Amino acid sequence: MEVSELDKYGICDGISEIIVTCGIENPNAAPIGLIRKDNRIFIRLYKGSTTYENVKLEKIFAANVTCDPLLFVKSTFSNLEDENFKYHPLNSQNIPLLKNSVSSVIFRCEEIKHTEQAMTAEIIPIYAVANYHRPKAINRGLTAVIEAAIHATRYELTGIDKFLDLIDQCLETTYKCGGQREKDAAEILLNEIGEIKKLVSGGKDTE
Ligand SMILES: Cc1cc2nc3c(=O)[nH]c(=O)nc-3n(C[C@H](O)[C@H](O)[C@H](O)COP(=O)(O)O)c2cc1C
Repeated sequence: MEVSELDKYGICDGISEIIVTCGIENPNAAPIGLIRKDNRIFIRLYKGSTTYENVKLEKIFAANVTCDPLLFVKSTFSNLEDENFKYHPLNSQNIPLLKNSVSSVIFRCEEIKHTEQAMTAEIIPIYAVANYHRPKAINRGLTAVIEAAIHATRYELTGIDKFLDLIDQCLETTYKCGGQREKDAAEILLNEIGEIKKLVSGGKDTE
């Protein structure tokens, strides 16, 4: 499969925020940004996540395109329930895919490079499926809650307070422009931030 064909599956030039599913034995889901440039495509995975460990070991994963804010936020902070996964048989393995995605593409990793914090791989599409897709207009509440989820992962990693302000700004837009699903995702995110704050301030007390 050519990289240019990925347009049909919604993975276009620039950074596409998709949900990676991986883990042959124990399926796992997490939001990841795939980087497509000059007809090549790359993944960068920071150490410390289940996705990092699975992809490092198995060198295969699926990228699932979805606009569901609940799936994004839930899979950022914990794994999705079993009922969200389905499986595609490939070379006598069952590759986990997201059941309700707009499309799913299975990638193999090549040219893997490791640094102190992360691994980067050029990735090769080997199978793709497009599912039924209902059109959805751009909703600022959706993009803002995804942005807030990214800030939340940075806050979790660094404990730097400026990320909390950025999350507040994003969620203001979500509460103004989002539908119920975006607002539900924002609630989950706020609860998670509450828990992360406790860990961060606990850590600061012991310094
Ligand atoms: C929209 C979005 C994009 C993200 N992109 C990446 C990425 O490209 N690489 C990465 O290592 N983590 C990325 N993250 C953070 C991971 O999703 C996060 O660390 C997650 O908790 C990993 O889950 P896991 O331990 O189940 O793999 C992103 C998070 C969000 C919300």
